[in-house]
This record gives sequence, structure tokens and C-alpha cells, in this order.
Amino acid sequence: MAVQVHRERVQVGIVGAGPAGLLLSHLLAQAGIESIVVEARSRIHLEERIRAGVLEHETAAVLRETGLGDRMDREGLVHDGLFLQFLGAAHRIDLKALTGKGVMVYGQHEVVKDLIAARLNEGEVIRFECENVSVRGIDTQAPSIHYEHGGVNHEIACDFIAGCDGFHGICRTSIPPEALTLYERVYPFGWLGVLARTPPASHELIYAGHDNGFALLSMRSPEISRLYLQCPPDADLALWPDERIWEELDARLSRSDGFRLTPGPILQKSVTAMRSFVCEPMRFGRLLLAGDAAHIVPPTGAKGMNLAVGDVRVMARALERYYARHDGDAIAAYGPACLRRIWRVQRFSWWMTQMLHRFDDDSPFDRRRQLADLDYVAHSRAAATTLAENYVGLPMDWGDGP
Ligand code: FAD
Ligand code: DHB
Repeated sequence: MAVQVHRERVQVGIVGAGPAGLLLSHLLAQAGIESIVVEARSRIHLEERIRAGVLEHETAAVLRETGLGDRMDREGLVHDGLFLQFLGAAHRIDLKALTGKGVMVYGQHEVVKDLIAARLNEGEVIRFECENVSVRGIDTQAPSIHYEHGGVNHEIACDFIAGCDGFHGICRTSIPPEALTLYERVYPFGWLGVLARTPPASHELIYAGHDNGFALLSMRSPEISRLYLQCPPDADLALWPDERIWEELDARLSRSDGFRLTPGPILQKSVTAMRSFVCEPMRFGRLLLAGDAAHIVPPTGAKGMNLAVGDVRVMARALERYYARHDGDAIAAYGPACLRRIWRVQRFSWWMTQMLHRFDDDSPFDRRRQLADLDYVAHSRAAATTLAENYVGLPMDWGDGP
């Protein structure tokens, strides 16, 4: 018996409804280009998945300029500084004074909620809970996305496919391996992240480099704290009951001025392994990769989601030029334009990570060098400006893109 296939056609097929895929669909719609987003998980899962929290100045501006800024500006927290903490003392980096800019603390899942609501206003453009997603014909003029949903096979024929399906997705692995060069560094630690119902003990983020390992104090609202601890990459959460987490956070964030955390109920905990990863090139035929599908940074610089936003901004512009004047050069320019920024952000995220974490094979020399690095950033305006300029975000447009 012939298997029933539901067929449709769209200009751009997008795999993955994370920040990259959803924002790309939104930007394309504003340019009059149709897209469909194919996502493996449910809407609820996406809207409750706690991840990033810091939006660069320009990321917040992009959301605002494209009509997505209302709730962010009402509920997000504008931060003009952050603290670097080591040897029991906190040192404020005044982002605003050093760069004229700040950042916005607003959860990634809130950005995702806003994007899903905006996209669904335009019809059934996001397909949730798709199974067995695959891409075909990516090196031809007629690529297509295939998936199953509710026992029916679906095929979406497109002009281009945007692979926005994260590090573990199927798009990058659909490219012949010999066509790609992968650059990777895996770190010998991870982050244990918790969401806790307790007012943040500091109104600005604290990045702490302690002898026991790294700790980070962040937040989601005046009532909810977001905290992270360096841990083994495969840490077993069963070995981390709430009391142990608070004890360790308290030890790593304590200061000689008497600063203390106020423990509260832990609402969620998870462990994330850490890696630096870049896939080059970012395009194979008519498949264009963006966000975590193409690159990963360790979270210490708060850059992953911001890089995804930068990629899809450039991709949307490339596709716009393609449809306006059939300009294939714009598509070819997409990856190289993104990679310049990606490598600078890789450098910053690696630098923050190696400065603030303990490595198993650290020698006493390495530890003293780390402390000297922190001391330099805390006390030199030039070094602090370097951190601040990268933290609030390097320009998304270098002027050499499509
Ligand atoms: P994703 O968000 O991973 O989205 C990919 C989507 O594709 C997912 O919805 C997934 O379900 C879907 N998918 C996967 N496979 C398939 C398939 N086969 N078919 C269909 N769909 C599929 N970044 C920051 O900028 N600032 C921060 O402060 C920050 N902190 C972080 C803290 C932690 C603990 C972690 C884990 C990450 C943090 N990041 C941060 C990184 C940020 O969360 C990611 O870089 C961001 O989610 C990348 O967006 P994306 O859309 O590329 O990928
Ligand atoms: C958060 C995450 C980060 O990786 C970071 O560097 C700062 C804040 C957060 O989830 O709030």
C-alpha cells in the first residue's frame, strides 16, 4: 500500500525552533519571505527550557526593532555592570562607563515565548513534535525537509534549508564529513545550574574564580536567582542534594566583607558539559547552518544565544538579497561574514573560561597566573575595557557581509 505523504512548498525551510530558527523565521517574514519551522520538541518544552540569560546590547536592540521588545523592556533587568570576584573580594566592571552600553538580563525561554507567540500569529508556521526529521537534496537546487507527525509523512520542498537545530541536530551531520573542518576543545568540567526561589543576593552578576572552582550568581527576576557551579562534566545530580549545592555556592561566593547568599527552594537543576566548537564552512549547497548547529562556546562569556542572533541576522539579509536580485554571491558571503565574529567570540569565551575555572592539571604557576590575569582586569582600565567591550557585544555587522 502506498504511504500517504503530505506535500507543501515554502521559500525557506527551517529545522529547529530555538532562538536561531524562530528569529530567522521572524526576520524573513518581515522581509516578505515565507518560511516553515520544523521542531522535534513540544511548545511547552521549548517555553520551559531554562538556558541563557544575558542579551548583548545589540541582541536586545534587534528584538526591540523587530517588534519583540515590549515584554523584554517591561520585565527584563538592565545591567550596567558586573562583578569579578577572587581572593574573597569583588571588583566591579562598569560596562556602561567603559563602553557606553549595558546588557539585558532576560531568560532565553522568555525570548522563545515571545518569538513563538509572534510567529503563530501568522498561522501554522511552526510544526512542533516532528519525528524522524531529515533533509534531502541539499546539494541540488531543490532541497527538501521530511518528517513524520501523527502517523503522516510530510515533505516540505524549499529553495533553501536553514539548519538551526542545535549541536545535536541532524543538519550538520547531513553534510558529507569530508566537506567540513571541525575545530573543537572539550573542557574537563561542566556547570551545575540551578534556578532558586530566593531574591538575588547581588543586583549585578558575580563571576567568581575560587580555589574550589568557578561559581556564578545570576538572576531571572527580583525573586528568582540563577546560580552555577563548576562541577565534573558528567556530575551525577543524585550526589548534589540542595544542601550540598548551597554549601558549595556559599563557599565559592563568600567574601571578606561578609557577603552571604540566602538559600531558598531549588526549582530546577541540570548539568551542562562545556566545549568550544566551530564547523567550517557554514554552508553546503543550499543548506545554511546557524547558531549552535555550527558552533558552541563555553557559557562563561554568556555568548551562545547572542552568536545565534548574529548569525540569523546575517542569513536573513543574505536571503533577502538573493530574493531581491537572485544574488547567489550574497548566499556565498553568509558563512565567511559570520565566522569572523564567531572566532572573536570563541576567543573571548575561552579566555573567560580559562581565567575563572580550576583545571585538574593546574600547577601552582598556573593558579598564580590566573590570579594575575584577574588582578589585571580588575585594576587596569584598558584590560577592563577589553572585557566590557566583548561582554556587551562586538558589532554584529562588520561591514563585509552580504
Ligand atoms: P537551540 O536553542 O539548541 O535550538 C535548537 C532547536 O532544534 C531545539 O529546539 C531542538 O529541540 C531542535 N532540534 C534538535 N534536533 C532536531 C531535529 N532533528 N529536528 C527538529 N528539531 C530539532 N547563551 C547566551 O547568549 N547567554 C547566556 O547567558 C547563555 N548561558 C547559557 C547557560 C547554559 C547553562 C547553557 C546550556 C547555554 C547557555 N547559552 C547562553 C547558550 C545558548 O543557550 C545557546 O547558544 C542557544 O540556545 C543556541 O540557540 P540555537 O537556536 O542555535 O539552538
Ligand atoms: C547566565 C548564563 C551565563 O552563561 C552567563 O555567563 C551569565 C548569566 C544566566 O543564565 O543567567
